[in-house]
Amino acid sequence: MKLTPYEQSLLEGAEGRGVQKAMEIVVALGRIYGAHDLVEISSAQVAGVSYKNLGEAGLEFLSDWSAQGARVRVPTTLNPAGLDLQSWRALGFDADFAAKQQRVIDTFAAMGIPPSCTCTPYLVGNLPARGEHVAWAESSAVSFANSVLGARTNREGGPSALAAAIVGRTARYGLHLDVHRRAQLIIDVRCPVRTLSDFGALGILVGKQVRNRVPYLRGLDAARLSQPVGLDLLKTLGAAMAASGAVALYHIEGVTPESSDPDIIAPNAEQVTITDLAPGYYALNHSEGVSIDLVWFGCPHASLAELEEVVRLLDGRKCKVPLWVTMARSLRDEAARSGLLQRFEALGGHVVADTCLVVAPMEGLGFRCMATPCAKGAYYAPAHSGIAVHFDSPQACVEAAVTGRWLGSGGI
Ligand code: F3S
Repeated sequence: MKLTPYEQSLLEGAEGRGVQKAMEIVVALGRIYGAHDLVEISSAQVAGVSYKNLGEAGLEFLSDWSAQGARVRVPTTLNPAGLDLQSWRALGFDADFAAKQQRVIDTFAAMGIPPSCTCTPYLVGNLPARGEHVAWAESSAVSFANSVLGARTNREGGPSALAAAIVGRTARYGLHLDVHRRAQLIIDVRCPVRTLSDFGALGILVGKQVRNRVPYLRGLDAARLSQPVGLDLLKTLGAAMAASGAVALYHIEGVTPESSDPDIIAPNAEQVTITDLAPGYYALNHSEGVSIDLVWFGCPHASLAELEEVVRLLDGRKCKVPLWVTMARSLRDEAARSGLLQRFEALGGHVVADTCLVVAPMEGLGFRCMATPCAKGAYYAPAHSGIAVHFDSPQACVEAAVTGRWLGSGGI
């Protein structure tokens, strides 16, 4: 692999062991994947932030790296942590876990990374332009950056995204190259796809078909997806595809920026037709009972428009069971400034910042069954958090919060 004299000097330790270690990781990945050189990145997004996933070994690895002088040199954001860094006590999280999580946050801060703690960095200012190279790790954010923004990133691991942030470069392979951004599969959607949960169910079905290839979707409502509300639908679609498959880039006819590029569909692309979303819904429903003790919105982290929509669906009615909306702290603060947060809280809702129900130690909070319209959360919560799931439309989930019972779409 060809390195510039400056890159070679970093590899030889000219800026200390911490930077050298980062360069070793970036170069090793480049060699494994056949990269010819490195490319400068404009931002990084680091996953592996929750102490639940990192454990003591992960925290020690980060602390050692920081002590060796590793500091990021491009704007870098963090994925969700294991709890709400300010309201953890009120939500019932354990003090010992909170102290350990704070050590992780402090270690990242020492490396120059503020505690943004969100999987939607593009909603809080980390918004790369089309064609910009970045190194992001969170799978749903990777999908959004590549597909909706037209930026370029591989699906990085936590350490490799951090290494890229420290040297300001990543190896030029995979989705950094035009040739790997072409669609290998055409998905013809021939059924109505309207609600947030419809887009999630579709994403689950497409991800299973596509695995790690690039799909080109046709038949979706391009006019609606091109409006602001479309961004929330696209983020849930991408998150679901990334969960059931390993889809890091998709194109939608008439919607995503690269969909109209000549030759964007590979000549030998396979064709698949989806006529029914029911199998996607079926795959995400893990409970038959009617009793629920939690409702969750905000996977990926909610936008202000999504929070506003939940308040609209509540229509002045109070929640009987906890209704959590997870979102970035800076958006929560914005909701507080506009009064939206207070309107939601007055109806019994909680905006939980910095974390999500998949990376938080939910087992300790006693929840057994929840309702959610978020496909990725529904996909992971049973295994990662031990919570059974009802998955359905936002309206059905809000009705469940208000009545404390699961009636599904039939109850609306
Ligand atoms: Fe984000 Fe957690 Fe969902 S990291 S995409 S809210 S599983």
